[in-house]
Parts: sequence; C-alpha cells; structure tokens
Amino acid sequence: MKIDPDTYERSLYRTMTGAVVPRPVGWISTTSEDGVDNLAPYSFFNVVTVQPPILMFAPANTADGPKDTARNAVETGEFVVNVVTEPLAEAMNETSATLPPDESEFDHAGLERAPSEKVTPPRVAAAEITFECELYDHVEVGASTMVLGEIVLAHVDDALTTDEGNLDVERVDAVGRLAGNWYARTSDRFRLERPD
Ligand SMILES: Cc1cc2nc3c(=O)[nH]c(=O)nc-3n(C[C@H](O)[C@H](O)[C@H](O)COP(=O)(O)O)c2cc1C
Repeated sequence: MKIDPDTYERSLYRTMTGAVVPRPVGWISTTSEDGVDNLAPYSFFNVVTVQPPILMFAPANTADGPKDTARNAVETGEFVVNVVTEPLAEAMNETSATLPPDESEFDHAGLERAPSEKVTPPRVAAAEITFECELYDHVEVGASTMVLGEIVLAHVDDALTTDEGNLDVERVDAVGRLAGNWYARTSDRFRLERPD
C-alpha cells in the first residue's frame, strides 16, 4: 500500500498516529484568563531542545478556533506539563471530555490540585513528575497550534530518582498512546549498548 496525501481521499490521521508509537502524553494544565483551571491530555507532545529546556505540544484547532489549552497557554503565557503514569491513566482519559470553558476538568475528574511555584496553573497533585512552563513561542502549523514552553521549574518525586539524582528508568511507569484508544506501558524495558 502506498499513500500519496495529494490523492488520498482520507485523512492520514490513523496512519500517522498508528505508526508514530508509543507517543508520550503531555497532560497540560492551564488557567484561563477568567480563572478556570483547565486540564487535557495531548499526545502530539515531545521534547524540543534541552538548552534551553523546551517542551512542545500541538493541539488541533477546532472549527471554532484553538482548543482551550492552546488558547489559555497563548493568552496567559503559562502552562504545566504533568507526566501520566499508569495509576493516572483513567483520570487522564476523563479529562479529555469536551467540557464548557467555565467547567474545570480537575473537578470533573475528581483530581486534587497542587499549587505551582512559578506559574499560575496548578499541577496534578498525584503526578510524580510535573514541569512548570512559560510560553516560549507558538506557531500556527496548518490546522494546529504548536505551543512551545520553557521549563522554569521541574518537580520530581524523590522516590523516582537514583542516588545520582537522575530519573530511574525502572521507576517511571509512564504510559504512551498508540492508535485509537490503545495505550502502552513503559514497564516492559530492554537495554541496548550504543556502539562507539
Ligand atoms: C491520550 C489522549 C491524547 C490526546 N492527544 C491530542 C492531541 O495531540 N491533539 C489534540 O488536538 N487532541 C488530543 N486529544 C483530545 C483532547 O484531549 C480533547 O480534545 C480535549 O477535550 C481538549 O481539551 P481542551 O479544549 O480543554 O484543551 C487527546 C486525547 C487523549 C485521551
């Protein structure tokens, strides 16, 4: 099978999201200009550069414009990335419900907030790793808004770190998104030594 986007009658969404797997999930908290705390998962999410420390996520726009998360991040210049570990997967999924802008997904999913120190949006209290971010830039890419944020404070549960202070790969049970409603665990791991 070959797919030429110029002649393909369907969207490449299922092909792209089925092939680029597993995708990490950025669970993004923002606070609207009206003071409503928003929380939503985004799997079009990744590290961009570490110097400075920049993360990105890219919500698809709706017919009415950017999704609440993109709009809030761009308008307020702040957001928090919460890492989704396995015990949080169901709550994360709950927060993908489409709610009116005046209703908080934190309350909808029964999630406790933890205050951030350098930005206004709260963190998910139960998340073991969270990144407080300030907006670095945003770029309109086709029908999506790519939001770039600089980490201004990282919170890491001490139970996840090695004696050297690094994140221990064996203790971070993050989940990744596959196609559709499928997810993967990161608990099935193997090592490869890199060649010189
Ligand atoms: C695991 C997961 C990953 C998702 N990733 C994306 C994504 O990358 N881009 C997107 O536009 N929507 C994505 N969604 C859907 C949004 O979370 C959903 O549209 C949500 O209601 C947006 O909330 P907001 O309008 O408050 O930002 C994802 C949903 C789930 C469950």
